[in-house]
Amino acid sequence: MKRVALALIPMLLSVAATVHAQKFEDLAQTPPMGWNSWNHFGCDVTEQLIRETADAMVSSGMRGAGYRYVNIDDCWHGERDADGFIQPDPERFPSGMKALADYVHSRGLKLGIYSDAGWETCAAQPGSRGYEYQDALTYARWGIDYLKYDWCNIAGLNAEGAYQTMARAIAAAGRPVVFSLCEWGSNRPWEWAREIGHLWRTTGDITACWDCEVDHGSWSSWGVLRILDLQDGLRIHAGPGHWNDPDMMEVGNGMSESEDRGHFSMWAMLAAPMIAGNDLRTMSEETRRILTNSEVIAVNQDALGIQGFKYSDDGDLEIWFKPLAEEDWAVCILNRGPSARKVEFTWQGEPVADDFSGRETLFKARLYRIRDLWSGDDLGTTRQTLEAEVPEHDVLMMRLTRLLEPGE
Ligand code: GLA
Repeated sequence: MKRVALALIPMLLSVAATVHAQKFEDLAQTPPMGWNSWNHFGCDVTEQLIRETADAMVSSGMRGAGYRYVNIDDCWHGERDADGFIQPDPERFPSGMKALADYVHSRGLKLGIYSDAGWETCAAQPGSRGYEYQDALTYARWGIDYLKYDWCNIAGLNAEGAYQTMARAIAAAGRPVVFSLCEWGSNRPWEWAREIGHLWRTTGDITACWDCEVDHGSWSSWGVLRILDLQDGLRIHAGPGHWNDPDMMEVGNGMSESEDRGHFSMWAMLAAPMIAGNDLRTMSEETRRILTNSEVIAVNQDALGIQGFKYSDDGDLEIWFKPLAEEDWAVCILNRGPSARKVEFTWQGEPVADDFSGRETLFKARLYRIRDLWSGDDLGTTRQTLEAEVPEHDVLMMRLTRLLEPGE
């Protein structure tokens, strides 16, 4: 009898560990890629939009380029039923979420949903406060793969505790879900969220401009450069399975083509989640080409998962480096300013070293081939001085591929 009881202990411990595990560890090993409804559609979400977006993700080549998650943001909600189970809005989602998830899955994609740690979401829909386990179970039953969890109407809640509760609820529900924390960096989630979720917002909301602040009264939304500047110092907290999230992309939402290219390139350099925020059904060929540039995406999705860093900055012109697997590097020259800038960069005179990753370019000892990731041009090697002109509000983004010397 006693021996039987003892034999049960490891099993019981492993059950307890499963229930208390706070996140599914093997998800989001590279930054999540997908689409989210909010930036373009706001509260105007329907099952038809989601189905058409899933279709467009396939037909546009975005699925082929690596995008997987189709994420419904705020305003999908109906009311809770008599037992407290949340329902989707019956008019906007008449077939129900399970049928929608089945459809999205049949297209080789995954479905994401949105809730809030407080009593109501930011758009005054029912929040998950007090219903965390029930909501996580509902999402699992529907077949949801990704949860963005917001931070409005939280009066008095402790952020770490509130996000931990939902992480445990997701774990208890048992379906692997990417957990995206959206508390805008207010409580420094990079310091505590690594064991709780797979990505955390670092700032307030993005808006589709290069460098502006839009004042909404009690809060502001921020242009691409403002958000970029707010990432300073955070890269040491990111890595496979736990990413800084500078917000969903605004590519195709009204900036110029070069600004969209700059935005997309910098999100790649930041190892940021690549969540498109435009209307995929009607996007222009220019937008489609930006979002599906496989060589820029490869920088973002690099297996090392190291966020890039700013190496130099003369005001308008910044040079960023990102260590890549197999001793490659990505380099992005960002021209923030309103006029074109000439650049001369003598690689061999630049001591590029990254304390965080322990990587150095060693340009004097090592030779790299240079490829322009937007034009596809071969730009020679790091033996020559790079001479280029970067147009206003644009980038020159390159991959340096190490060439082994004879005998190496
Ligand atoms: C907050 C989030 C946004 C979006 C809206 C929805 O502002 O930061 O990304 O989810 O709520 O209401």
